Amino acid sequence: MKIAHLDIEPDVLLAPMAAVTDLPFRTICEEHGVGLTITEFLSANALCAGAKKELAKLTASIGGRRFGVQIFGREPEALALAAHMARDIGASLVDINMGCPAKRVVAGLCGSALMREPELAQGLVRAVRAALPPEIPVTVKHRAGWDDRHLNAPEFACAMVEAGAAMITVHGRTRTQGFSGLSSLDIIKRTRAALPRHIPLVGNGDVKTLEDYIRMRVETGCDAVMIGRGALGNPWLFRDIRAWLRAETPPGPPSLAERRTVFLRHVDLMRTHTPEKKIIHELRKAVAWYTKGLPDSAVLRDQAQAPKDPAELIAVTARYFVELGERRRSPGGPAQCDNSVTAPVPETGNPELPTLSPAVAA
Ligand SMILES: Cc1cc2nc3c(=O)[nH]c(=O)nc-3n(C[C@H](O)[C@H](O)[C@H](O)COP(=O)(O)O)c2cc1C
Repeated sequence: MKIAHLDIEPDVLLAPMAAVTDLPFRTICEEHGVGLTITEFLSANALCAGAKKELAKLTASIGGRRFGVQIFGREPEALALAAHMARDIGASLVDINMGCPAKRVVAGLCGSALMREPELAQGLVRAVRAALPPEIPVTVKHRAGWDDRHLNAPEFACAMVEAGAAMITVHGRTRTQGFSGLSSLDIIKRTRAALPRHIPLVGNGDVKTLEDYIRMRVETGCDAVMIGRGALGNPWLFRDIRAWLRAETPPGPPSLAERRTVFLRHVDLMRTHTPEKKIIHELRKAVAWYTKGLPDSAVLRDQAQAPKDPAELIAVTARYFVELGERRRSPGGPAQCDNSVTAPVPETGNPELPTLSPAVAA
């Protein structure tokens, strides 16, 4: 996918997620083949006010890898200044959040509330566009609409492009849906059809497997897919998607040893990049993600609440992986293989799967 002059490969992005897509999580996804990661949404006002907590979340990817910064607000000057800050840390693109349904955000008439004020939203895109050098695209992420009676994603997307947006992401739920029900493929398809061909449209919502990815691409014609919750504890999904797009055989779910190794890599990244007082909390989340669906993981999650010392929690989790491996190897152990944890992965060229038309795959 090309966003203005920016090449993204493979055609899959990590969704911005507040309190999730911090630098360690983004790095893990990058190391597993995601095409681009984006910071969680950052308040333009808070950044401008120099709020330490918000500034700490404005982080460049490690190793010079490309990344996006997502900002939100409704004041053009604040958004423009926040865009400067994103540029100064080397962001490859600046995304404006127009989809957040959270009460505190909507109460301030930001996030998805902007879908009810397209002209004001256009002003924000223009302000951010004017603040950035031409090589940094401005992009917009929004929802299907405010509610079922106001499904204005296609018109809204076109208005944002007219104001200067170079890529649109649509999460196919309305604001009133929050995270309930299903993300609509139809509204994503209609938005794709409405936009000029050279503007990439990213489909988002409920993609948790390679099959979901393929369905989203085929049924909507979108140019790439953004994945949020499906990546929690499953960065291997990006590896499979990348392999599939390159017409290679997707490696499929990880072995237990791989899970343990990536968990420990995540922990290592936290040691360097997560503030000391947040580490135990972030560790508990990681334990839950990487052990989800494994035998006795609920017991481990309970145990993970007790330790106050990160080293103890890491040791308990590492031991869990080792013991589970031993149980699987022992003759009396459960005859369960790792593949039972996640859906089996389709082979490339599987005739039962829909295939991307050459135009979509290109
Ligand atoms: C915990 C959490 C935090 C989120 N934070 C953001 C955010 O900061 N910015 C944003 O645009 N969307 C945010 N979202 C929405 C996701 O980016 C995405 O649109 C939504 O989860 C649907 O995609 P999925 O089904 O792949 O998770 C968040 C979602 C979750 C679950």
